[in-house]
Parts: sequence; C-alpha cells; structure tokens
Amino acid sequence: MIWHQGWTRDLRLTIFVLWAFCSVSCMTIEPEPLEADPYSTVEAGKALYLVSCSACHQSDGKGLEGVAPPLFGTRWAHESEERLARIILQGLRGPITVAGKKYNLEMPPMGFFKDHEVAEILTYVRTTWGNSSSSTDVNTIERIRAQTSDRSDSWTVEELFDEGVDY
Ligand code: HEC
Repeated sequence: MIWHQGWTRDLRLTIFVLWAFCSVSCMTIEPEPLEADPYSTVEAGKALYLVSCSACHQSDGKGLEGVAPPLFGTRWAHESEERLARIILQGLRGPITVAGKKYNLEMPPMGFFKDHEVAEILTYVRTTWGNSSSSTDVNTIERIRAQTSDRSDSWTVEELFDEGVDY
C-alpha cells in the first residue's frame, strides 16, 4: 500500500482539493450577459425565430400564401415595436392587409417567451431582410407585458391602432 507514504497522499489530497474547488467555481461563474453585444442578440433572435416563427412566416420572412403574411420589408415588421410586441404576446386575428394583400387568419399568442427572448426575436425581425430599424430592448417588452397583463384575447388591427400604439 502507498498510504504509508505520507507525501504521496498529501499530494493526491492537494490535487483533489484543487480539482474540486476548480470545478465548483467554474460551475458557478455566470456567463457575460448577452444584451451587451448586439451581434449575440441578433444571433439569439435568429435561433428563436427559426424554431418559433419560420414555420409560418418562412425562414426568409417572405410568408406563405394562406398561412402567414410576410415580415420581409413590410411596414408591420419595422414601424412599431410596441405593436409587434403585442402581436407576439397575445396573438393577432384578421382581417389584416400586409404589403397590399388581405389576410384573414389567426396568429397564436406566444406570451410564454421571456421578455429578453421577445426582445431578441423583435431585434432579429427588425434588422433582417432589409428591415433596418432599431433593436428592441428588454425594458420595452417588460413595460408592454405589464400594460397588457389582463389581456388574453388576440388583437385585431383596429384595436392596435385605436390604442394609440405609435404607428
Ligand atoms: C402558426 C403560424 C404562425 C406563427 C408560428 C407565427 N405567426 Fe405571425 N402571423 C401569423 C398569421 C396567420 C398572421 C396574420 C393574422 C391575420 O390574418 O390577422 C401573422 C401576423 C404577424 C405579424 C403582423 C403582419 C406581418 O406580416 O407583418 C407579425 C409582425 C408577426 N406575425 C410576427 C410573428 C413572429 C415574430 C413570430 C414568431 C415569434 C410569429 N409571427 C409566429 C401566423 C403565425
């Protein structure tokens, strides 16, 4: 047995303690917040868009006849982030005119997204496919979620305009 060799045991113990300390501290170090880096926000938004929106609006944002209108270069997609946030949080039902075409469909609510996720999706939508609006920050989404917290029904176009959403 090597246990009688005191220094070997001490060395092993020291290595073990160092290893244990390092793994615990590595696990508890928080990664840097993504908000500080606009590139990461857009990338996070793209990933969320691809799994949550593209089935209907398509990955190129051009929409699909009979399924969903385009987000590509439309006034809807980049004019009012307040209206966009409401559409994601509570959904939207037609009729609606997008890029000169009428739709009378229903978009499901997606309020299950966290505030920062909605901000990331909107930032992606507002800065991609030739849309060049400002990015959306998490405080805007937090405010709109609070303002609409007693709302469960989906929005209609008339309501979004009547509520004085900046258009
Ligand atoms: C199940 C299909 C579906 C999904 C998923 C979906 N939408 Fe929609 N979306 C629609 C439909 C349908 C409309 C139009 C509803 C109507 O006729 O009033 C719409 C309308 C919109 C509009 C306003 C009109 C326009 O084209 O600019 C925006 C903005 C929008 N969706 C964004 C999103 C975003 C962002 C996501 C992902 C978080 C998303 N949608 C997910 C179906 C969907």
